[in-house]
Amino acid sequence: MEQIRYSSRRFAEVLGLTSRELAQAEESGAVHSTVKPAPGAAQKTLYSVDDLAAAREKLGRVPPRRPMRKQLFLNFKGGTGKTSVSSSYAFRLAEMGYRVLVIDLDSQGHASKCLGVSGEEAESTLFDAIIKKTPLTKVIVQTGMPGLDLVPSNLTMSTIDLSLMPLAAREFRLRNVLKEVEGAYDFAVLDAPPSFGLLNLNALMAAHDLFVPVLADFLSFHGLKLLFETVQGLEEDLEHVLDHIFIVINAYNATYKIAKEAKEALEKHYPDFLLKQVIRQCTKFAQASSEGVPIFAYDPESKGATDIQAVLDEVQGRIGEWGKLKLAEPA
Ligand SMILES: Nc1ncnc2c1ncn2[C@@H]1O[C@H](COP(=O)(O)OP(=O)(O)OP(=O)(O)O)[C@@H](O)[C@H]1O
Ligand SMILES: [Mg+2]
Repeated sequence: MEQIRYSSRRFAEVLGLTSRELAQAEESGAVHSTVKPAPGAAQKTLYSVDDLAAAREKLGRVPPRRPMRKQLFLNFKGGTGKTSVSSSYAFRLAEMGYRVLVIDLDSQGHASKCLGVSGEEAESTLFDAIIKKTPLTKVIVQTGMPGLDLVPSNLTMSTIDLSLMPLAAREFRLRNVLKEVEGAYDFAVLDAPPSFGLLNLNALMAAHDLFVPVLADFLSFHGLKLLFETVQGLEEDLEHVLDHIFIVINAYNATYKIAKEAKEALEKHYPDFLLKQVIRQCTKFAQASSEGVPIFAYDPESKGATDIQAVLDEVQGRIGEWGKLKLAEPA
């Protein structure tokens, strides 16, 4: 992430300044670039992610600290965009000045990779925190993006369901572990694997909000039904009520008749949960993840980045004040 560079225009945009305000802030010394232009390169000013964090501090543009809001991206169906959307969403929150912890729950370690961290090389994962009781702070790694930390994942996570099985309070392990970092982050963004098991149950029990990325096809309906039944089961058996459920259509291509029909069916069946904003099909997601950066860093003007920003805005509007948690914090 350290390699991410902002143009002056984008830097001003991210800070919520006009170009003129940025120039004034430069003059007053509140903002400055630490990026040395490469030899022979055009003398355009570029900014780093550290410059962004420093500018936010100096300009007093750090959002107020809030109780940690835990947002889970889950769908039992694979390949619907949970990782692409959650890692970009989390990165964007960090760009906005929030303190964000991404928790990679998937032994494939894709969220780690999307944030430029090799899960394989990670010394420990959530497995250590949940099963072996290693303090979470020892598991957390920095991503290089100020304000964006990560609980990495790798193949050691693949047996976690089995290890959870005999434990006491096995559905509440993750919720309890997260209490350790309650005051340190404004958001926890959890990227779930496409499976149905104890780890995902833990994730649901820990979450305030559930995001369900779906593809606009009819196969998605079966997965959704199971997910809603599971959520209902949690309410009844474990008394856990989610604050919000957001279904978001991903990789949408309006030129496909089937996609339009599936969208209409989702609108009909899940009107209360379906976000109005869709995330359009965008090849930049794959390119960004292969470079280990979120889409906002790869191409902030791409359809994918624009749509995730709009999703974030819609969600913020629906939740209202980010920090007001309906759910009473578990004792
Ligand atoms: N909006 C989009 N447009 C085009 N391709 C996308 C979009 N979102 C995700 N993809 C691509 O789809 C594939 C699956 O995405 P991703 O890994 O985010 O899904 P997932 O739900 O996390 O998968 P898994 O269930 O394996 O965890 C990736 O190759 C990704 O680049
Ligand atoms: Mg994934």
